[in-house]
Amino acid sequence: MTKAIRTNEQVREAAIRGIGGYRPARAVPNAEIVERIDSSDDWIRTRSGIASRRWANDAETVVAMSVAAAGKALAHAGITPDQVGCVVVSTVSHLYQTPSAAAEIAHILGTDHAAAFDISAACAGFCYGVALGADMVRSGTAEYVLVIGVERLSDLTDQTDRSTAFLFADGAGAAVVGPSEEPAIGPVVWGSDGQYLDLIRQREEWREALFAPEGPRIPHLVMQGNAVFRWASFEMAKVAQQAIEAAGVTPADLDVFVPHQANMRITDAMARAMKLPDSVVTARDIVEQGNTSAASIPLAIERLLETGQARSGDLALLIGFGAGLVYAAQVVRIP
Ligand code: UT7
Repeated sequence: MTKAIRTNEQVREAAIRGIGGYRPARAVPNAEIVERIDSSDDWIRTRSGIASRRWANDAETVVAMSVAAAGKALAHAGITPDQVGCVVVSTVSHLYQTPSAAAEIAHILGTDHAAAFDISAACAGFCYGVALGADMVRSGTAEYVLVIGVERLSDLTDQTDRSTAFLFADGAGAAVVGPSEEPAIGPVVWGSDGQYLDLIRQREEWREALFAPEGPRIPHLVMQGNAVFRWASFEMAKVAQQAIEAAGVTPADLDVFVPHQANMRITDAMARAMKLPDSVVTARDIVEQGNTSAASIPLAIERLLETGQARSGDLALLIGFGAGLVYAAQVVRIP
């Protein structure tokens, strides 16, 4: 046999060590939207839970929002940018095909040596990133991994589309995943179901949009809301339950439930299906923030910490789900 290849020998535990978010300055209440889509404040609140959302201005780019959120997460973790070994950015709204947002963000933060890449896992992207980061830390591939979920969905939303115009929003959330004495990120339960790719998608690819016979246009996101709603409400509770079991805990052990902020009624349906005790604090960031896809879970965690509803060390169930369809869930300790 030829000489053996040396691999990273250490296997250690991983934790989310810090969290940070960036919310665009401009709050857009339902009142600003309803006329365009023949809707009402009451309909939007009742059907989605949303009262207001944030939309980014020109300066609040995917990269700028990410850098702001990452700076807070690094400070919370108490580490410096040069300690970051990998930057993973989950986004579907960085409108450059290449280079990645991650490489630019890594450079601005001062982590030039870090590996950097983007992933496309829609609203499950943050949980996908945490799973990747945890495995990198455990295996020794990186000491600290910066995981960012960021979207400017207002760029890809048709503001006259009744099923998406009130729902999608902008923002960034970041987490630092690093080594830990104790296991603090449970096994991920994840997957995809590509037979449903038409349920949420970009309407057409860029070439079709740019060379459309009527002239160039943005390839907006389109969604069969009710079908996604039913899938998420019924199937995602099962995935969440599997993640709880995989972590060796029970619903009664949880302190916090942080689902992707897709729709308040989906959140409530999942909590009911899992029989979560009333003692479990449920994230409801969607009310003021809208649905920010990959950014929604870290933003919701940050708000729970800021408002004192969650504390460092709390046991939290995270679950993300969305276009693909894709999903991912894991139990983690709040940093
Ligand atoms: O984040 C990624 C994953 N995305 C999601 O998880 C989103 C999942 N889906 C949803 O959140 C919901 O489907 C929506 C909030 C988007 C829509 O709620 P819904 O309860 O599924 O409404 P629907 O599409 O079944 O429509 C119900 C009724 C219809 O009227 P009729 O046929 O009952 O008379 C619609 O025409 O509401 C009407 N409608 C509206 N009315 C006022 C649909 N959109 C609107 C609107 N304003 N914007």
